[in-house]
Amino acid sequence: MPFAATVLTLYPEMFPGPLGLSLAGRAMAEGKWSLDTVQIRDFAADKHRSVDDSPAGGGAGMVMRADVLAAAVDHVLERRPGAPLLAMTPRGKPLTQGLVRGLAAGPGISILCGRFEGMDERLFEARPILPVSIGDYVLSGGETAALVVLDACVRLLPGVMGAASSGEEESFETGFLEYPHYTRPQMWEGRTIPEVLRSGDHAKIAAWRKARAEDDTRLRRPDLIERHGDARRPPPSGAQREDEG
Ligand code: ADE
Repeated sequence: MPFAATVLTLYPEMFPGPLGLSLAGRAMAEGKWSLDTVQIRDFAADKHRSVDDSPAGGGAGMVMRADVLAAAVDHVLERRPGAPLLAMTPRGKPLTQGLVRGLAAGPGISILCGRFEGMDERLFEARPILPVSIGDYVLSGGETAALVVLDACVRLLPGVMGAASSGEEESFETGFLEYPHYTRPQMWEGRTIPEVLRSGDHAKIAAWRKARAEDDTRLRRPDLIERHGDARRPPPSGAQREDEG
């Protein structure tokens, strides 16, 4: 069974969007994954088909109603009982390559896209939903975040990336950013490609790439070093890292 994605949204026209092109689009055309959408508004019960209401306690904007969202969610959970259900929200757990890997290894995912100020919190208490954020900034809705999650999953599906990239050396797979890349021309605007990359010495090249990956990570993403531990430096006083214990 190919990886099946279902997106619950007020804007189904936003899908597949960019996922209909290039790598993901080709994989979809080849039947390696599928995407369908569910219009949340179809689950509104009143004659105005309203999906939102003003926030309890006052304040700006509107909040998506728990009853309408639950009806849409129940429909999807019934149809795809094996697939995890994510909700895109800046209040969610941060999306990581590890989470993506886990999702891509499963049968598929369902993704609920929030709009307005947010979703009634009781929904998350009453249904098995994993709130996920793609970063510490606020988008105008969860749809673009859902596209990000799906893009990251689809490229990991069997046969999608091909032999060119197994993905194993990429940023975050090793705990570090990936090493920098270069290609012809050898001289561009007075800048050359690092000599070691032209040496043909594969061991030396691998060592250089590892060192650059670690240096760049330390410089740009010290948070990653802290999270994974510093592989190049022994821990102070010979103490073991927590995850080695
Ligand atoms: N919706 C709005 N902002 C978001 C974010 N950063 N991540 C996921 N969903 C969102």
